Amino acid sequence: MSEPSRLLVLVGSPRRTGNSAAMAHALATGATDAGAEVTVRFIDDYITSFLRDCRACRGLDGECSITDRFRELFFDDFLPADGVVFSTPVYWYGVSAQTKAFFDRTFCYYAGSYPESAEVVARMSRKRVGLVLASEETYPGASLGIIHQIQEYSRYTRSEFVGLVRGFGNSRGEVSRDPGHPLAESGRFGRSFFDLKYSDYHLDTGRAANVWPDTAS
Ligand SMILES: Cc1cc2nc3c(=O)[nH]c(=O)nc-3n(C[C@H](O)[C@H](O)[C@H](O)COP(=O)(O)O)c2cc1C
Repeated sequence: MSEPSRLLVLVGSPRRTGNSAAMAHALATGATDAGAEVTVRFIDDYITSFLRDCRACRGLDGECSITDRFRELFFDDFLPADGVVFSTPVYWYGVSAQTKAFFDRTFCYYAGSYPESAEVVARMSRKRVGLVLASEETYPGASLGIIHQIQEYSRYTRSEFVGLVRGFGNSRGEVSRDPGHPLAESGRFGRSFFDLKYSDYHLDTGRAANVWPDTAS
């Protein structure tokens, strides 16, 4: 039997009972039901510092000397994952500082000055990536910058950005009253996460004329 796919859900809100947490948990339940091995982490349990100047704080052994738990999150949960979902509130039309700090801090280990950087680069690459967004405002443009960032992150790491869920609310857990049912949608996203079709063609990409098999014939 093949190993279950490993999914890491990174919550970028400080609110443990907030909207991005609620959607993250719904997604995790769906993915677990589908047979994935799922881990949910709140980024601020692990990161208490921004990226610093690596020349100033990299130890003689090449390790980052910032004394928080980023290394544990990165090596124990992120690198082994086949897929990662970033679940973040929209803050100032961007991801939360927690989420951004996660991206920035990866630099400590993929930079050439880290002795094992080649292995880190390989293990950061080729994951499935998903996005869950909680915001007060509903207009599409409020999340465009974030979608673009995750798209570029995925392109840069040769990963596949397979989809996103947006949920609207402001007070803790208010997404449960969103008539678009983002909690149910998160559950569906989690269930199908590792099976979703992903395509991103180039002009010369060989492909069939249809996207889906014609089951009627
Ligand atoms: C610092 C801050 C900035 C915010 N900026 C935006 C924003 O630009 N657009 C928006 O729609 N909501 C914004 N919000 C509202 C949050 O996105 C919203 O309350 C969300 O549901 C919070 O998610 P959480 O419960 O997971 O923390 C902001 C909230 C805070 C605290």
